Amino acid sequence: MKKILIALVMLCGVYSAQAIKFIHGPYLQAVTETEATIMWVTDAKALSWVEVAPDDGTNFYHVERPRYYQTYLGKRVYGTLHQVRITGLEPGKRYRYAISSKEVIDVKGHRVTYGHVATTRVYGKSKHGIIPTLDPKKESIQFIVLNDIHANQDKLNALLNTYEEGKTDMFFYNGDMVSMVPTEQVLFDGFVNASIDRFAKKVPFYLVRGNHETRGLFATSFLDYFPTTTNKPYYTLKHGDVFFIVLDGGEDKPDSCLEYYETAEYDKYRMEEAEWLKKVVESDECKSAKYRVVLMHMPPIGGKNMWHGPKHAGECFFPILNKANITVMISGHTHRYSYNTPDTTDAEFPILVNGNKTALKANVDAEGIKVDVIDTTGAVKKSHTFK
Ligand SMILES: [Fe+2]
Repeated sequence: MKKILIALVMLCGVYSAQAIKFIHGPYLQAVTETEATIMWVTDAKALSWVEVAPDDGTNFYHVERPRYYQTYLGKRVYGTLHQVRITGLEPGKRYRYAISSKEVIDVKGHRVTYGHVATTRVYGKSKHGIIPTLDPKKESIQFIVLNDIHANQDKLNALLNTYEEGKTDMFFYNGDMVSMVPTEQVLFDGFVNASIDRFAKKVPFYLVRGNHETRGLFATSFLDYFPTTTNKPYYTLKHGDVFFIVLDGGEDKPDSCLEYYETAEYDKYRMEEAEWLKKVVESDECKSAKYRVVLMHMPPIGGKNMWHGPKHAGECFFPILNKANITVMISGHTHRYSYNTPDTTDAEFPILVNGNKTALKANVDAEGIKVDVIDTTGAVKKSHTFK
């Protein structure tokens, strides 16, 4: 009787224990022609992995699928934020993926005690995520740009209606998606969760850092949530005929501004970024592309009314970009649409500024880049074509 009682108590212990759960994600980041990062968050510390299978019609459990772990200096790491890099993929292909997290209950010395495993169900066709690798040979692509959402969910959800399943290749979030980053939760509540609900398990978003994303305690964790191929918030990617250059303009006011409480050093940062940009525009990948599109949150426009941040960004980047045959720069920040021709700025290319209540939908093919400015009702307010 005593043995049965002990067994019952043990069983109750097992079944009443809270199983580990996914609380955010998964979402794609830093997708390239051959690699991608899968991100998610669990409610307890866990050792995590991703299984990857080609999208070839086989059952996910047809064969053992390769597993990828998050590692640091050769060691598999555990935590609540999971960032797993998948490598060795082929350009222009679709891969299915499943995520798993094994709870780490206790660590004593070198011994690790594990608990439950959470895993995504991959029995059904739509249960798994998709990695669509970039393809420099794709004949036509579509990308969508949103900016200055400042965590407004109604506006974000309305503008995400521009997403066309099977047609939209990627989103660019062109800065100020939130107003401040005091906690991890603000990022997920502000725009990441809505993106996951709509597309981000199977279509990537590329984040362009806005001046508001530089603010708050969690601002220095930016790359933990939005990793890039350069390990900086400025990077490049190539898809179809477009070579994209993502720039980080930093803060908008002088570094000495009281509002920054002695924490800003963006002049030096922009100058370092300019050195990187010089190498980028000299690369074959940049030179050989049909179109070169620059994304930067703050537009260096407005002459004498320009604030220090965008003005200095223009001084750092325009001399380099002006020699690189840039097709168009896309910005936000002003909360107002404007189209700035080269005769009105120091740039030798147009600067298209998207407002805070519209999305830009760009369809690109050999004929050009056709950009529609679409409002929250889905109406096309303006159109531009860049050749
Ligand atoms: Fe801004």
